[in-house]
Amino acid sequence: MTGPSTAALNRFEHVPLAVFPTSAEASRAVAREIAALIRSRQASKKPVVLGLATGSSPLGLYAELVRMHREEGLSFSNVTSFNLDEYYPIQPSNPRSYRHFMQAHLFDHVDIPPSNTHVPDGTVSLSGVDVHCREYEERIRQAGGIDFQILGIGRTGHIGFNEPGSPKRSRTRIVTLDALTRRDAAGDFGGEPNTPRYALTAGVRTILEARRIVLMAWGQHKAEIVRSAIEGPVTPQITASFLQEHDHVQFVVDRAAAGALTRYRTPWLLGALADQGLEWDAAMVRRAIVWLSQTRKKAVLKLTDDDYNEAGLQDLLRIQGSAYEVNLAGFYQLQHTITGWPGGRDPARTRPGDAPVRPLRSPSAATFPKRILVLSPHPDDDVIGMGGTLCRLVEHGHEVHVGYQVSGANAVSDDALARALRFVRDSGVAREADAKNIGSLCETLESQGALPETEEVHKWKGLVRRQEALSAARVCGVSSGHMHFLDLPLYHAAPGARRQLGEADRSAMRALLSEIKPHLIYAAGDLDDPHGTHRLCLHALRDALASLRGETWVKEAELWLYRGAWSEWSTDEIDLAVPLSPQEVLRRRRAIFCHETQKDMALFLGDDRREFWQRSEDRSRRLAETYNALGLAEYEAIESFKRYAPEEFLRDLPL
Ligand code: F6R
Repeated sequence: MTGPSTAALNRFEHVPLAVFPTSAEASRAVAREIAALIRSRQASKKPVVLGLATGSSPLGLYAELVRMHREEGLSFSNVTSFNLDEYYPIQPSNPRSYRHFMQAHLFDHVDIPPSNTHVPDGTVSLSGVDVHCREYEERIRQAGGIDFQILGIGRTGHIGFNEPGSPKRSRTRIVTLDALTRRDAAGDFGGEPNTPRYALTAGVRTILEARRIVLMAWGQHKAEIVRSAIEGPVTPQITASFLQEHDHVQFVVDRAAAGALTRYRTPWLLGALADQGLEWDAAMVRRAIVWLSQTRKKAVLKLTDDDYNEAGLQDLLRIQGSAYEVNLAGFYQLQHTITGWPGGRDPARTRPGDAPVRPLRSPSAATFPKRILVLSPHPDDDVIGMGGTLCRLVEHGHEVHVGYQVSGANAVSDDALARALRFVRDSGVAREADAKNIGSLCETLESQGALPETEEVHKWKGLVRRQEALSAARVCGVSSGHMHFLDLPLYHAAPGARRQLGEADRSAMRALLSEIKPHLIYAAGDLDDPHGTHRLCLHALRDALASLRGETWVKEAELWLYRGAWSEWSTDEIDLAVPLSPQEVLRRRRAIFCHETQKDMALFLGDDRREFWQRSEDRSRRLAETYNALGLAEYEAIESFKRYAPEEFLRDLPL
């Protein structure tokens, strides 16, 4: 047997689930199921009704259906479709509308009769919305109900736009979008202030009435919500959990989105690992020990045989001998993640008896000083995610470069830019032509309340962020000659178009890497970022490294991923923990303060309205407390990293 038994799985998972290695394979499997349904109905001359979703999750599915239409003659002539939702208000011609999305990704490329396609109408008047929604339901009924419903899942757990609190009996209606959903959509709308507040959506009841439902989810950023929807209680707080009550539903996910499920996170709860085709390697032992220490609320070295036995970890005791042995092995693993010398120790400052610097592993581990490249997707992720470590690396004498991948212009409010422009205008130092231009921009803002979305405005906004980054790096001691502003084009998509990685992004990354040939690379592994920029930036690094993998310096380089403002590594994943003193925490705070334009962002970030320096401090203090509770030393704060050898990174990165 190579997996957990069905009985064991059913104790935790309340929805049938298919896990595929990649989203591409999963999308193809769903496409095959839909194609088979369409064909079988065609054979008996019957229509088929599809319920469709937008967003990034079904993109691969639609691409595959289009391919099947072109290459395998799959016809959509007997298909009627109903989309789940639409922003409100919005014109169908708006490239950000879901109607536009559906035309661009599916309808325009297949032979579905245009009059058979239905998307809620974002142009109806507010007074006509209720009637429109009732008619939408009626049309679904008249078409015979939905045969096959495609769903994605939002990070709030929404299906359609049924945000937390939507009742099970809800039907098609107008809804207010959740703050997290608006943040996730902000990338498509050029910032949160421009993102719609309302949407029309099919209700939970409408969705549950479909005869077959497939929910698709890809990527690590969906892992937690997928777990809650599958393993958690049925609750209106996570509307996807209502699917547990459907008789013919399936979640189709990739390995990254499945990562938080019990079968992967704590597989020993499903039975002996050997029976599941798994083994107690060092990583699994560490995971079990951290988990046990946290669930028992006891330091690692205080765990007893009884603790292991009662938690279902007898297996581990049998293999290692006793709790004493397991505890020691786990304790040292954790202890050895901690170092105040993240780039290695200066031989000139090393005294006999000093502890070795364990976390470094690469052939160049002993090289001192090192060339180090810190990649910061936006101009502030470096200091938010690893400001303390950055200061240390510079102080220890390494050659530290920072590569800012995108300009960050989208996150500068018009008001913030206007402050800078007014200063230039009023100072009288600008050349005549520039002064006129700047003057007219200031007037536009005053008369129209917003600046136009032009390239010029974008450029100014990027420059404001560049100055902030330069100030912050000065606080950390990075020399301005070692700061590289790449301004990757992946950041600038046409309105409504999804951002994509292109050749220009890859070659800019390649050029920077080849110029520096770093021994150590730090990159943001914050895949939960709301706008998806971090994920694309990490893709850009992966592609650049892949094309350089033959070079000796790449083989010898070590890659560390840090987390930014949004989430922390889980403790058992951390390979490097850099403790910070109270003074270092304050210095990092000063560096983050330099990013003044980003203070505005706190107004849009979730309910707690915490600014970035607060997020960074809370996170790193909490991690220090977590380490302490495991029985390790008590530090003020800790910044954490996960190691990848470039080859591992190219193979395993859970994007
Ligand atoms: C889209 C929809 C939403 C999305 C969900 C996931 O029509 O109804 O529920 O399915 O927000 O979005 P992506 O796939 O972009 O992560």
